[in-house]
Amino acid sequence: MKYAIVGVGGRHAMFRRAITETHANGNDLVALCDVNEARLALSAGKVPKKGNGVATYEATEFTRMIAEQDPDTVIVTTPDYLHHEYIVSALKAGRNVMTEKPMTVDLGKLRAILDAQAESGKKLTVTFNYRYTPARTQLKDLLLSGVIGDVTAVDFRWYLDRVHGADYFRRWHRYKPNSGGLLVHKSTHHFDLMNWWVDSTPRTVSALGKRVFYTPEMAEELGLSGHGERCHDCPVFDRCEYRLDLANDPALRELYLEAEDDDGYLRDKCVFADDITIEDTMQVQVRYANDVFLNYTLCAYSPWEGLEIKFHGTKGELTHRHVEVHGVFGGVRDKSAEESMTTTLHLHGGRPEKLEVWEGSGDHGGADPVMLGYLFEPDSMAPDLYNRASTHREGAWSILTGIAANQSIATGETVDVDKMLAEAGIRLPR
Ligand SMILES: NC(=O)c1ccc[n+]([C@@H]2O[C@H](COP(=O)([O-])OP(=O)(O)OC[C@H]3O[C@@H](n4cnc5c(N)ncnc54)[C@H](O)[C@@H]3O)[C@@H](O)[C@H]2O)c1
Repeated sequence: MKYAIVGVGGRHAMFRRAITETHANGNDLVALCDVNEARLALSAGKVPKKGNGVATYEATEFTRMIAEQDPDTVIVTTPDYLHHEYIVSALKAGRNVMTEKPMTVDLGKLRAILDAQAESGKKLTVTFNYRYTPARTQLKDLLLSGVIGDVTAVDFRWYLDRVHGADYFRRWHRYKPNSGGLLVHKSTHHFDLMNWWVDSTPRTVSALGKRVFYTPEMAEELGLSGHGERCHDCPVFDRCEYRLDLANDPALRELYLEAEDDDGYLRDKCVFADDITIEDTMQVQVRYANDVFLNYTLCAYSPWEGLEIKFHGTKGELTHRHVEVHGVFGGVRDKSAEESMTTTLHLHGGRPEKLEVWEGSGDHGGADPVMLGYLFEPDSMAPDLYNRASTHREGAWSILTGIAANQSIATGETVDVDKMLAEAGIRLPR
């Protein structure tokens, strides 16, 4: 199979390595495309030599790239608000697409994607790696077994620490039109897991959200008055725990600092800037089509990183806790460097039982290697008992909870998802 990748920043490297190194057998990376020439050259230079090497194209040459290089599949790893442009163009050109999450950020772009997919009939895959974390697949396995009876309600909390959480306030993510805010950009993973775990889709959504930590006032409170627009050459660099040191991290330096002259993309903007438009504190309540209730919290400045989830069922409850450790750069991490996961089954009339948690190794709790196997060498993988592959349909449902939550935050009203879709002219099977 022939692949082209558009958007060669931080995330694309996982796909590039999968195609050219770990799953090179039968796969070929034929082209890379980006607005930034320095990042294009950097990525092309890391592709193991084969024939004439990989062709590179500027973003304006995307259509020409498809015609000349004839990829079977286009992989989209641009910032979120641009996904739809490349997904729609590639589908219309008769190509399959794999896109990073979130599939897109608002209803207008979603409609364009769904229309293009329906017209072309081509395959659109959303790469939801979180489904493949062995411990989360185990939760699906337990729920499918019916061990806690019918699931009635779920309490789900996701905590981002001040290293990982802060990173969403530095660059394009921090403006709502670019990312949909964290309820779309980040929670797309969590709401996708929910849809998959409880095998349903959101019907009504109400939400609250505010920005209380990554603010100019907090910078004052932390003694950081007089901070600059960015970390590089910031007057308070040495005493700021939230700094990102681009110059002293070889990978960040070559990927972003040394590529700035091409497009002015600053990777290390101050996380306490006035013009940030996304929330850092969010709570959402959802009623699913099968009448399961969800209570969800996302906090982006917690003292630890990870998740806690409790499934309430008619026969008992299932609880999972994961302390996560991310390889995100910058900031000070003063907590455990060890990942830890616990899953506890507590049935009515019995004692809580700690289960042996399914494990894996590799990024995102062992998720990425499993997902890449299914994406790039499916014949070498066991049949997937858990239905983890995600199409445009799952991609759409995963963002609709966050899009409805954003509407609810703006209006103070509960959002009826069917009505929201009808008003946007979107028909999506449940
Ligand atoms: N699933 C996961 O765990 C995971 C993790 C990280 C990122 N992501 C997703 O991957 C995507 C990319 O994130 P990232 O961190 O690599 O961002 P990034 O900013 O590091 O990289 C984005 C790249 O897109 C390029 N780009 C910008 N405008 C473009 C245009 N008009 N045309 C073509 N290219 C353009 C930039 O120059 C840059 O090279 C996002 O959608 C993000 O949500 C997913």
